Amino acid sequence: MTKKYKIAFMPGDGIGNDVLEAAKIVMDEGTDFNAEFIHGDIGWVFWEKEGDALPDRTVEMLKETDAALFGAITSKPNVPGYSSPIVRLRQKFDLYSNMRPCKAYEGNPLNYRDDINLIVFRENTQGLYSGIEFYDTNDLQDIEVFKKYDPKKTTVSCRVFTEEGCRKIIKKGFDYAKKNNYPTVTLVHKANVIRATDGMFLKVADEVAKDYPDIEVWKQNIDAMCMQLVKNPQNFGVITTTNMFGDIVSDLTAQLVGGLGFAASASTSDDYGLFEPTHGSAPKYAGQYKVNPIAAILSVKLMFEWLGETEMANKLEGVIEANLKEGKVKTYDLGGSSSTIDVAKDIVKKLNK
Ligand code: NAI
Ligand code: MG
Repeated sequence: MTKKYKIAFMPGDGIGNDVLEAAKIVMDEGTDFNAEFIHGDIGWVFWEKEGDALPDRTVEMLKETDAALFGAITSKPNVPGYSSPIVRLRQKFDLYSNMRPCKAYEGNPLNYRDDINLIVFRENTQGLYSGIEFYDTNDLQDIEVFKKYDPKKTTVSCRVFTEEGCRKIIKKGFDYAKKNNYPTVTLVHKANVIRATDGMFLKVADEVAKDYPDIEVWKQNIDAMCMQLVKNPQNFGVITTTNMFGDIVSDLTAQLVGGLGFAASASTSDDYGLFEPTHGSAPKYAGQYKVNPIAAILSVKLMFEWLGETEMANKLEGVIEANLKEGKVKTYDLGGSSSTIDVAKDIVKKLNK
């Protein structure tokens, strides 16, 4: 048995419930993970019921826990007063680092190539997702450059970077590369056009890189990077980038190793971690137990690692790989007809062997 942890358990909406149920079966029945799971209300359901997708009680509860597991939420555009609860959580808990590993597990028939093993570090609290937005520009009329626009017919979303914010995520990527023997760190930007923010990102990166002389530093424009990732994904190791570029690039890299059913993530501050599959709530599959739980189960693996339960993490990863290699119990995305729960039960069986 491990030490006793307190884990916030937040399935959210739609298939978030299906996949976290599967993840919990794996933890409860297949591991010695000793935890009190505390349910947290989050998501569209609570926006409709209470006018807040992230009730205060959930935030208070999270403060009492060691880490959080999160499923997915439903969000809809153009809903006045609504803001994404997951973006708010990232900001409230300063979860500045979003780590998304993309590894081609042996036996996964969906691998684009079998030699891909890269990891994306995405800045998670700043950039275009800072939440500083103007639905008209009446308040910006004192600033000269806005005078040429019709204030009622102009919207602005601000891309905010701080030096400190850039430094923290860049350092995170380099530290990971050093610890895990990745020979390269690729910094993804568009500094030739978005000069102020991405210029600063690259300047800070040059400073940070000096402390890691053994790591080769590559720089790529976001557009060229997308092309390179399709052309030669096996060449990349650690990829570090800003919030929106990271959001986009990490969905691309997820598809190289099996798609959203395989994409796990860790959002961490220096002392808290929230672990989630990167897919959304897929409303058309909600409650049908059809979707692949591997992304959620790999998120559990990332949580184990972050908590320092390395042995448990490695064993779980090995068993996921064994399930894929065997190729018998698999969900629809892998060409199978097993349910979400069948996959969890197969992983439990293999863990207990
Ligand atoms: P989505 O990720 O929910 O689903 C897109 C498609 O990917 C699904 O229709 C399904 O074909 C496939 N898929 C997703 N997860 C899968 C899994 N575990 N196994 C097998 N196939 C899987 O993205 P979509 O449709 O753009 O968004 C649906 C809702 O989710 C929206 O309200 C959106 O705002 C929200 N969303 C929430 C996220 C979060 O909670 N972190 C992230 C992305 C979207
Ligand atoms: Mg995304």
